[in-house]
Amino acid sequence: MAKEIKTIAVLTSGGDAPGMNAAIRAVVRTAIYRGVKVKGVKKGYNGLLNEDIIDMAPRNVSDIIQRGGTVLGTARCLEFKKVEYQEKAAEICRKHGIDGIVVIGGDGSYRGAQALSRQGINAIGIPGTIDLDIACTEYTIGFDTAVNTAMEAIDKVKDTSSSHERCSIIEVMGRHAGYIALWCGIANGAEDILLPENYDYNEQEIINHIIESRKKGKIHHLIINAEGIGHSTSMAKRIEAATGIETRATILGYMQRGGSPTAMDRYYASIMGSYAVDILLEGKTNRVVGYRYGEFTDFGIEEALQMQKDIDRYQYEVARRLTI
Ligand code: ADP
Ligand code: F6P
Repeated sequence: MAKEIKTIAVLTSGGDAPGMNAAIRAVVRTAIYRGVKVKGVKKGYNGLLNEDIIDMAPRNVSDIIQRGGTVLGTARCLEFKKVEYQEKAAEICRKHGIDGIVVIGGDGSYRGAQALSRQGINAIGIPGTIDLDIACTEYTIGFDTAVNTAMEAIDKVKDTSSSHERCSIIEVMGRHAGYIALWCGIANGAEDILLPENYDYNEQEIINHIIESRKKGKIHHLIINAEGIGHSTSMAKRIEAATGIETRATILGYMQRGGSPTAMDRYYASIMGSYAVDILLEGKTNRVVGYRYGEFTDFGIEEALQMQKDIDRYQYEVARRLTI
């Protein structure tokens, strides 16, 4: 029989993402609504190991749904990969009466949740990352805000790039994944999109493309480069030398991770946060919440971690067609 859950905890882990606060709020309020106590763990697994744990009440999460970042703080805690620290964390949970935990983060954070589950603490993951790189879900909290932030910044660079008739290389985040790059590439009307999943591009082809588009009357040339490829500054120098067209690199960086979450991020975070508590209270553990084929659902963490996804070739092809 599933153990009765009386107290749960919530933590955010890995890179922060806009919408994490909306997820925390949903976890806290759903737990209290369902008659369960809830605690907040500060600074990810680090905070758990340091017993940085606070009681949460509905008013502790007032006025945070619209705020970027995470009010609980986040961290990367490398020692949590070691079993002795996972055992210690489970002991700490038991000491604080924590029967279940909701972990908001990316796939690294799920491995931590899986480890806690193995140690007898029921654990559920929620996808929180701007990178959209979690295969079991079509949506990750933070992606929509990040992509909109990047799009607006790129529009601004495009204004000045057109005025000066320059070529721009804009590097966007995404770790090893190219989703932010692909979406911005389409949304900003980029002439070239460089994705780590599609790393067969040839710099000479890009140079030829720039020269051809100039001949066709285009006064700027926008290249969106994914962080997973990088080297935007040196690429700009080589392109300028080869084409004779002034070329500038802009690395958008951490601004993409901040800011007030979009409605989409607040919405998905609220439903996913509530859903995580509901399945925790059903006695489920070692699972991650996802959104697939129009529905909120959940998967075993091991199964979720083994799933693969790739950039949709058709979408990439559309981006290329629209640059004529
Ligand atoms: P994300 O969750 O965004 O993918 P990371 O990969 O940095 O970010 O993982 C966040 C944290 O999750 C790590 O700092 C560590 O505390 C924990 N974690 C990552 N991998 C493991 C693992 N194999 N076992 C236990 N905990 C892990
Ligand atoms: O996973 C989110 C992300 O912003 C990635 O896009 C990026 O590669 C990474 O985190 C940067 O991490 P850090 O905050 O440790 O520099």
